[in-house]
Amino acid sequence: MLRAASRVPDHGKRTPFRFLRIEGDARLSLGERIAARSRARDPDASDSVIEKDRLRFMFAPTIVTVIARLGPDEKIPEQERLLTTGCVCFALLQAAQALGFGAQWLTGWVAYDPQIRTLLGIGDDEVVAGFIHIGTAQCEAPERERPDPVALLTDWTPE
Ligand SMILES: Cc1cc2nc3c(=O)[nH]c(=O)nc-3n(C[C@H](O)[C@H](O)[C@H](O)COP(=O)(O)O)c2cc1C
Repeated sequence: MLRAASRVPDHGKRTPFRFLRIEGDARLSLGERIAARSRARDPDASDSVIEKDRLRFMFAPTIVTVIARLGPDEKIPEQERLLTTGCVCFALLQAAQALGFGAQWLTGWVAYDPQIRTLLGIGDDEVVAGFIHIGTAQCEAPERERPDPVALLTDWTPE
């Protein structure tokens, strides 16, 4: 799956991404720390909110954090390196699903909170592009309304 996820368009061959696996007991240990942080962020948060945060990483046995590495680069714009990392997330989703797993791309406040970032070892020039939760699907994913691609298409015409 990681091999498939790493075969993405990558301007300048920068490999502007890395993977951080959260698995097994580490999931709940992280959840306990997230719950504590959640309480500190909002002392008035309800118990159900705190519990939801505690169990954030318990939906699936494996979570692959896809991290964009966005240090200074004289040639390749940051946007392009972030796009590459987005492709990694999607390719990982598709690889997992192609192998018969359920997989979902989630972020939430934990992806952006400075203290959780530090806890995960995310560097100053890095961002969490997504947590890809991978496991055995418990049910069929509900379908949702999809955009009409034709409505999104215009033609450029010279004036
Ligand atoms: C960058 C990114 C972050 C996302 N974070 C969340 C999230 O935190 N919670 C959530 O319910 N869905 C999140 N989603 C949406 C889900 O990944 C997914 O698109 C949604 O559950 C519907 O699935 P579908 O697009 O396969 O129909 C995120 C999507 C992207 C691209």
